[in-house]
Amino acid sequence: MISPKIQTAINDQINAEFWSAYLYLSMAMNFESKGHAGVANWFRIQFREEQAHAEILINYLNQRGGRVVLAPIAAVETEWATPLAAFEATLEHEQKVTSLINNLFALAEEEKDYATRDRLAWFVSEQVEEEDNCRQLIDKYRLIADNGMGLYMLDQELATRTYAAPSPLSTAE
Ligand code: FEO
Repeated sequence: MISPKIQTAINDQINAEFWSAYLYLSMAMNFESKGHAGVANWFRIQFREEQAHAEILINYLNQRGGRVVLAPIAAVETEWATPLAAFEATLEHEQKVTSLINNLFALAEEEKDYATRDRLAWFVSEQVEEEDNCRQLIDKYRLIADNGMGLYMLDQELATRTYAAPSPLSTAE
């Protein structure tokens, strides 16, 4: 059985993951409407990844005999002028998510809930990857600046991103 404190904290994180999904879908829609099909694709994949993160926590809480309670998802922004602005906002958001995960990890340790700590270890590594991917894209967009051909080529590159279910879901752990 899971402690009420950990259960509440995991439910909060489920909400944060769904909020992230909603944010990235909003970014995808923004760039879809502005003709950046590749950027829109990248954020649509990101949207699916965030839903998968929520699902990992949902499955985990159920596995531990806990109760998933879905709270309302707060509103998200709807306008980003450039891909660079959106990726900068993404990095800032992911850094916040990293601290949420770290706080949850610390709480699990404090409560001696080692199963939860182990489950969260996957998220700790995932955050390193997410921040790094985002930083690399920011570097590329800064390098390209307003170069039309560069922006076109990078958009083509982002169009090739495909979705792969994260390992905790694909291996049905
Ligand atoms: Fe669910 Fe982008 O971290």
